[in-house]
Amino acid sequence: MALYSEKVMDHFTNPRNVGKIDDADGVGEVGNAKCGDIMKIYLKVDENQIITDVKFNTFGCASAIASSSMATCLIKGKPISEAIELSNKAVVEALDGLPPVKIHCSVLAEEAIKAAVKDYYDRNGIDYDPETFKEKVVD
Ligand code: FES
Repeated sequence: MALYSEKVMDHFTNPRNVGKIDDADGVGEVGNAKCGDIMKIYLKVDENQIITDVKFNTFGCASAIASSSMATCLIKGKPISEAIELSNKAVVEALDGLPPVKIHCSVLAEEAIKAAVKDYYDRNGIDYDPETFKEKVVD
């Protein structure tokens, strides 16, 4: 079996939503200290708390790029409340799997989105449960 699924290869070679949003409503940046990869997510959110646009910049491995691309596809057009529910597991499933040693790359995508939502909440003085933004511990 190939190490990477066709979907991973597709989102790695043709990543969706790459870039930066200059007037973003929320920005999240996370990194993994072990591999050194960095992911940045930009959100545009309308008055109904719908994510109207999302972009990412990832300096990392193929799995991190594919995970960022898939994660942005999964939250675009969705309410913020759904975006913070997006788990790395859902990203992995949508990619038809990742090798076990690459699961942490999908966690980076989940955390980057959460960091961007937290930034959006902080900028707008919206209360939230800090538990929602607790870091996941994954090797
Ligand atoms: Fe670290 Fe992929 S190897 S994010």
